Amino acid sequence: MKRSVQCDGFDAHAPDSAIMIELDRLARLRIFADLPPDRLEWLSGRMTEFSIAAGDVFLREGEMAACLTILLDGEVNATRDDGGLHDVECYVAPEAFGTPCVMASIPYPVTLTAMSECRLALLPEAAFRELFVSCGSFSQAVARVMSDWLTALETAALNRSRLAALGKLAAGLAHELNNPASALTSGLEYLRKELDALEGSALALGRHAVSKETLDGLGALGHAGAQSSFHQSDCEARLADWLAARRVAKPWRIAPVLAARHITPDDLAPFADALSPEQLDAAIGWSARVLDLRAVVDDAARGAQRIFDIVAAMKSYSFMDQGPQQEIDLHDAIDNTLMVMTHETKRGIVVTREYDRALPRLQAYGSELNQVWTSIVENAIEAMNGQGRIVIRTQRDGDEAIVEIADDGPGIAPDALAHVFEPFYTSKYALHAHGPSLGLGLHIAYRIVVNRHGGTIGVRSDASGTVFRVALPLAGRRGDTHAGERLAGSVL
Ligand SMILES: Nc1ncnc2c1ncn2[C@@H]1O[C@H](COP(=O)(O)OP(=O)(O)OP(=O)(O)O)[C@@H](O)[C@H]1O
Ligand SMILES: [Mg+2]
Repeated sequence: MKRSVQCDGFDAHAPDSAIMIELDRLARLRIFADLPPDRLEWLSGRMTEFSIAAGDVFLREGEMAACLTILLDGEVNATRDDGGLHDVECYVAPEAFGTPCVMASIPYPVTLTAMSECRLALLPEAAFRELFVSCGSFSQAVARVMSDWLTALETAALNRSRLAALGKLAAGLAHELNNPASALTSGLEYLRKELDALEGSALALGRHAVSKETLDGLGALGHAGAQSSFHQSDCEARLADWLAARRVAKPWRIAPVLAARHITPDDLAPFADALSPEQLDAAIGWSARVLDLRAVVDDAARGAQRIFDIVAAMKSYSFMDQGPQQEIDLHDAIDNTLMVMTHETKRGIVVTREYDRALPRLQAYGSELNQVWTSIVENAIEAMNGQGRIVIRTQRDGDEAIVEIADDGPGIAPDALAHVFEPFYTSKYALHAHGPSLGLGLHIAYRIVVNRHGGTIGVRSDASGTVFRVALPLAGRRGDTHAGERLAGSVL
């Protein structure tokens, strides 16, 4: 006689002899490792064995697992579909699949496909539960599997969240670097072309014997500084007319350069009186070119400086080249964080810093703390939809450094306030194109402040805005604080 069990779409057949599955093989599985031989025999009698060929799928992501599935021989591959199929892991026999799914009645998280011919066994849920309630060592083993599974889930989510944050940061920085880099490149390109023209202007100076005093006099004219575009174009038009009337070549090119330095026809008149028309043309042509090139070099230098500043801020933000824990200046760290986040703040966020400059340096994990500022500021920006005010205050309170980050966004609803530091708590289900937020930003911040630094983090909020308050011991972490021993973030 053959028994048949319908489990996950498989018609499984057990041979006549009930105890066919090798007990030593079952005992090698973690959840059965502590079972006495009679229990193993009992188990084996309730299992149904079957074989599948390479390439067969025997558990599908999203299906409910009504049995515990045991791989007795062979290899299987687990894949997950997150918009595309991803290999998760490869398993070699012996292995048990579905403990958390059977325990919690949740769908299977991956699809399992045989990589070779596989021998499998199914343990029906009823037998699994019977063993769970009647056998202490089995329920302990199951609890251990569940706890490892939760830890793996959380670690994967944390890694995903870190990767997403890094990707976002990198994209923002790339964007920020793009403008100064292209200003630098186009400035250098322009310089290359203009250097040839400058040679022609220099020869003209010699040809018409323009004196050094004349060039020095022209060079000393005007001053740099901004002016309204209306005023600028008015000055340009008057200068171009004046230059054209004195037969200076290309007045339309020279006038904007001179006007940008606030040089007027009145400034140039004495030169026109003292020089021949050819000398005036050569002298003004040369001076305008030099002024123009200087302005281009200044722009390029500003671009290079900006690139340097961004890279320096990025290096400090990540505390590259430094050990994990060091003495840090909180204000520098927050400024670097803000600099790295410029791409997100510059559209409509006004950041006010109210720093207590007397605050001493403190022992901390610098790059981790920067993740705290990043998460809090990011939430504020998202809450305010990119438009609003953020105030960052620092002060000393006894032997603690206090950082408060306030925004004037819509605030957090009272019933949500107690949950914001919990893992996976989020209200942003449709914010990002790539799916909902993970709700880990503040949980990670909490762990960094409380567990890593022995500090505290809290929040107060009403309709006029939200304030996060972080307190860090100046002397670094004291005592041992574990996540489980404290509430997940306090509501101030
Ligand atoms: N400044 C704030 N103003 C209003 N609501 C906030 C603010 N900061 C946090 N919250 C609320 O707290 C929730 C949890 O924040 P948390 O940073 O932990 O997760 P998230 O921002 O939703 O997702 P993630 O940070 O993982 O992308 C947010 O979804 C939001 O509802
Ligand atoms: Mg967040």
